[in-house]
Amino acid sequence: VIIGCAVPLWGQADAETVRQGAVLFRADCAPCHGVGAHGGVRGPDLTRGTFIHGGSDAELTRTINNGIPGTAMGGNRLPENEVAQIIAYLRTLQQPPAPAIGDAHRGETLFFGAQRCSSCHMVNGKGGRLGPDLSFAGSARPRAYLIESIREPNRQLTTNQSLGEMQGAPTLLYDTVTAVTRDGKTIVGVAMNEDTFTLQMMDTNERIYSLPKKSLKSWKHEHRSLMPAYGADTLNETDLQDLVAYLQSLHAPSPAPEKGKENANR
Ligand code: HEC
Ligand code: HEC
Repeated sequence: VIIGCAVPLWGQADAETVRQGAVLFRADCAPCHGVGAHGGVRGPDLTRGTFIHGGSDAELTRTINNGIPGTAMGGNRLPENEVAQIIAYLRTLQQPPAPAIGDAHRGETLFFGAQRCSSCHMVNGKGGRLGPDLSFAGSARPRAYLIESIREPNRQLTTNQSLGEMQGAPTLLYDTVTAVTRDGKTIVGVAMNEDTFTLQMMDTNERIYSLPKKSLKSWKHEHRSLMPAYGADTLNETDLQDLVAYLQSLHAPSPAPEKGKENANR
């Protein structure tokens, strides 16, 4: 992992360059990275003062041009001067690197051990399947969202991507579904797929059901999370910070640096 550290260089770019960068950023990047680059639901905060994929001009140019494979960050076909303007704008936003809060290594131990998050969540192929895979959630989500997801899971339910992004497909939320069969059995779980005739569910033991709706007495989307809310009584502040640090330490592998190409864009 290369932790690039942004060296504050403002003063080097003139105000007009920065202003144009801000306009471009608002149009091309803010839909994911949020207003003022403070992070949105689809892209990380870019004002933290450190960049996982490298903070030099060359590295940022590469990230912006090529994107980050395997993530929502696609390549942008922007002229060289526009990329430079965006970088000049980003430089003005850098906060001094936040002091490291939380111990990611301890967080990992809690995730798979004492707190049993892994009973529902998978990270890098290990863990349960009831909740969303969290291998990349930490790098794609702002820290405040992660904290809210753990303390108050009902506030913003995650979208279930198991259907892919099929055109016209209804958006399935990871909410709790309760189905009661005509022979009186109650099944509680998450919906994996649903159409006019069938409801597919996974229960808390990861059993998968394909239920013809006509065999059901009732079914109900509860619009609440199956994830328990971890209040301060079950998860103290230190444990919370460690878990969040662990989730934020996970990210898509950086592309291998291409030898000799470092300065190709300069
Ligand atoms: C469709 C959503 C989306 C758009 C649009 C988008 N990004 Fe991203 N970007 C992401 C995601 C997600 C990541 C995190 C990838 C990872 O490492 O897991 C990311 C990562 C980055 C990084 C690397 C951060 C780091 O810590 O190294 C930079 C820099 C960046 N984006 C800049 C931009 C700029 C500039 C634009 C506009 C030209 C842009 N992005 C447009 C989703 C997006
Ligand atoms: C009983 C199963 C269960 C357990 C245990 C559980 N979760 Fe969840 N979690 C879920 C479900 C289901 C969702 C999706 C619904 C929602 O948004 O709350 C979710 C959502 C999340 C999200 C939001 C992901 C996103 O991409 O939006 C995070 C972060 C998260 N969980 C972290 C944790 C952590 C950390 C723990 C351990 C302290 C934990 N979970 C324990 C079931 C669980």
